[in-house]
Amino acid sequence: MKITVIIISITIWIFGVSLAFADKPDKAQCPQNRTTPDAPEKYSGLKNPLEATKKRMEKGELLYMDTVQPMQCLHCHGARGDGTGELGLQADPLARNFTCAETMNTISDGQMYWAIKNGIEGTAMPAYPNLADWQIWILVHYVRQFGNNSAD
Ligand code: HEC
Repeated sequence: MKITVIIISITIWIFGVSLAFADKPDKAQCPQNRTTPDAPEKYSGLKNPLEATKKRMEKGELLYMDTVQPMQCLHCHGARGDGTGELGLQADPLARNFTCAETMNTISDGQMYWAIKNGIEGTAMPAYPNLADWQIWILVHYVRQFGNNSAD
């Protein structure tokens, strides 16, 4: 009798554990399934006009983590840039994983500039119309440093 109870308990436990994990999206999906529309031509060819100095990277970090409005990037893209922010994991499509070179190397500076300025319609990615140009370009540098990648 005892053994039956043990077997039933183990079966229930395994079922519970598999349910608990079934709903979680693949955390650091790489390459990412990316269906984002292309930026208009006037943006897509743009190159980041700023050099990635230490001071600019610090400003980028402050914007990304603390000050940018309406919502700081880390809530979706995560403090490590891998898309695992608390809202990023619930988004459909998932927030971009900036640490994934395979995906990020296909995204130009100008495409990122356009996405940050205007947001991406039909996704959780919000627009940041209040940012100055130089702030957006600093964010493009900051986002790239997570994976040490570039689109060249
Ligand atoms: C509320 C969640 C959310 C916030 C906040 C957010 N993003 Fe995103 N972001 C997303 C999602 C979701 C995607 C993926 C959209 C898609 O797959 O088309 C994305 C995509 C991107 C992309 C990739 C665009 C492309 O063409 O693939 C960049 C770059 C980006 N975000 C930068 C930022 C920056 C910088 C900030 C902060 C200033 C920010 N995001 C804030 C959710 C967010």
